[in-house]
Amino acid sequence: MPKFVIEQSEPLRGEVEISGSKNAVLPIMAATLLTDDVCEINDVPHLTDVLVMCDILRSMGAKVNEDWKTHSLIIDNSGLNTSEAPSELVKKMRASFFIMGPLLARTGRASIALPGGCSIGNRPIDLHNKGLRQLGAVIRIEQGKVDAMIEQPKGALVYLDFPSVGATENIMMAATLATGVTTIENAAEEPEIVDLANFLNKMGAKIKGAGTDTIKIEGVSKLHGTRHAVIPDRIETGTFMIAAAITRGDILIKNAVPDHVRPMIAKLMECGVIVNDEVDGLRVRGDIRNLVATDIKTLPYPGFPTDMQSLFMSFLTTVEGTSTVIETVFENRFMHAAELSRMGANIEVNGRKATIPGNVYQLKGARVASTDLRGGAALVLAGLVAEGKTEVTEIYHIERGYEDFAYKLQSLGAKITREDD
Ligand code: EPZ
Repeated sequence: MPKFVIEQSEPLRGEVEISGSKNAVLPIMAATLLTDDVCEINDVPHLTDVLVMCDILRSMGAKVNEDWKTHSLIIDNSGLNTSEAPSELVKKMRASFFIMGPLLARTGRASIALPGGCSIGNRPIDLHNKGLRQLGAVIRIEQGKVDAMIEQPKGALVYLDFPSVGATENIMMAATLATGVTTIENAAEEPEIVDLANFLNKMGAKIKGAGTDTIKIEGVSKLHGTRHAVIPDRIETGTFMIAAAITRGDILIKNAVPDHVRPMIAKLMECGVIVNDEVDGLRVRGDIRNLVATDIKTLPYPGFPTDMQSLFMSFLTTVEGTSTVIETVFENRFMHAAELSRMGANIEVNGRKATIPGNVYQLKGARVASTDLRGGAALVLAGLVAEGKTEVTEIYHIERGYEDFAYKLQSLGAKITREDD
């Protein structure tokens, strides 16, 4: 099994290019099921999760042409020949459940394995099912499968008890081909929702309000193919902002979208990091001031993103003063804390709250295991400043969501190699 081997490195300096957003491209790929025309998607990140979604679409009859020189996908679903997604592929990735809404709207049926939970939480789908039922779907869950049927989706008023990203996306996609208007209240507001709505509207959908807590979808009879470039990944952007802060370096993050990372800019500046929105990117400097503690509370967008929590925690172990981190979105997203503590961080976790005694001890290199995608990346960043050598195993988690992670860090001066364990 491959691992990352990281040596204590100099402050990272230079510039880095952010890849397309994983959490935007996955629902957009699912949305291509809504038409039998050809769709072209550009700025696609070369990630294992994207390759799994390509295989899921192919297994259902799609023609998917991958061009990793241009980072483009050409997807043709005219050959869609089933309403059943292959369980062994669906179980690999929770985001496969995004095909439920479009498949239901396109074919009137969908049979998909229950998406596995994962280490950060049990990840229920009750809000997805609530919304799809309100559009008229009959949904049965038995033997680990979700079986859904619908005559013709009908517009409805759907209130989400929690602004679930995936539920908002599934319901929005299904509603594009419903008769009448669907309103989603307490909808998720993430930039990835806006990118999906932009893609759907380019296909001929009529969606208003994406990016706010109320989204209106006026159903249409048919959608057509289109071409779309995916937004840059705001969590990868945040990851390299932390890389500059934790190593006390100076990194220019090209093609970053400042509006998508406002909470990270604000919290890093509270710690003394300098973040400037320059002409050719976001410049992040951790080398100017003495960096100090702050407190973080994760919330749905536009609050501080849960996906950045573990990365920020790594950084907080290196600053003066004690910080607290409260995780309100997932019920079990502190597993990286135990691994960081093995590197000398001594983080105390109590339910949804973690207390980080900053800079009490110089982090020491250790052999640690990735527990999830973002937790694994957090351990790599900690390894950059830990004394000696750090080995991060189970890196398949990391490679689900970060394109060329080691290469991009090496280009900034990091001592990191990918080796077989
Ligand atoms: C998306 O997951 C992202 N994944 C996650 O990113 C991200 O952490 C999450 O949104 C929150 O921002 C993709 O977009 C592929 P949710 P999703 O539905 O849609 C509860 C990463 O690292 N909930 O907003 O699954 C759920 O249990 C990944 O890139 C219900 O109770 O997240 C959780 O506590 C990790 N019932 C909360 O809502 C439901 O039906 C947020 O989940 C659905 C969700």
